[in-house]
Amino acid sequence: MKILISSRNEDKIKEIKSIIQQDPIELFSALDFPGLPEIDEDADSLLGNALKKAKILTLETGIACVADDTGLFIDALNGNPGVYSARFAGDNCSYKDNRHKVLSEMHNKTDRNARFITVAVLMFPDEEYICAEGCLEGQITNEEIGDKGFGYDPIFWVSSLGTTLAEISLQEKNLISHRSKAFLDLRNKLKEYLA
Ligand code: IMP
Repeated sequence: MKILISSRNEDKIKEIKSIIQQDPIELFSALDFPGLPEIDEDADSLLGNALKKAKILTLETGIACVADDTGLFIDALNGNPGVYSARFAGDNCSYKDNRHKVLSEMHNKTDRNARFITVAVLMFPDEEYICAEGCLEGQITNEEIGDKGFGYDPIFWVSSLGTTLAEISLQEKNLISHRSKAFLDLRNKLKEYLA
């Protein structure tokens, strides 16, 4: 069975491959298929975006495709930036712009609780699909701490670690992250599906 990973991000591809690799699966990524379309993540839910990406690429290539979408949901901001996490500070904004916007909107807020949620979808060529979700609970800091990771990592505090996600290695992050939980769950569901 062939599976295409929708991402072009080498780190994400490596992480996803290491989790879902199993016999008899042959894994590819969007980097192996030059010319695949760029897909706008304009749905109003993480599942909607993951399904949209998986469906377009499955139909385009004729092989099963795995796609995911992640958002940071902050209680005091009514769940924002949520599905808009990539462009919270506007189109073409940087990770830093997004973090500044969160820190400024969180100024003086006492409830700092937040969570990362990842939804992962595996769609088969007949358009049947399986999906899974992973979540990591944490708190928004008052300032940036740490220089590892990406995105909102420097402002996301994990109490069980006593650090932000930007202070730990990728290997440590993969042990607890929303994304790895979603893909581990997807791997288990795929095992059941193949059985
Ligand atoms: P994507 O769906 O993985 O592209 O994630 C959407 C946006 O969420 C990214 O542009 C990042 O800003 C943010 N994000 C996703 N995963 C993480 C993470 O593990 N740490 C910090 N920010 C993340």
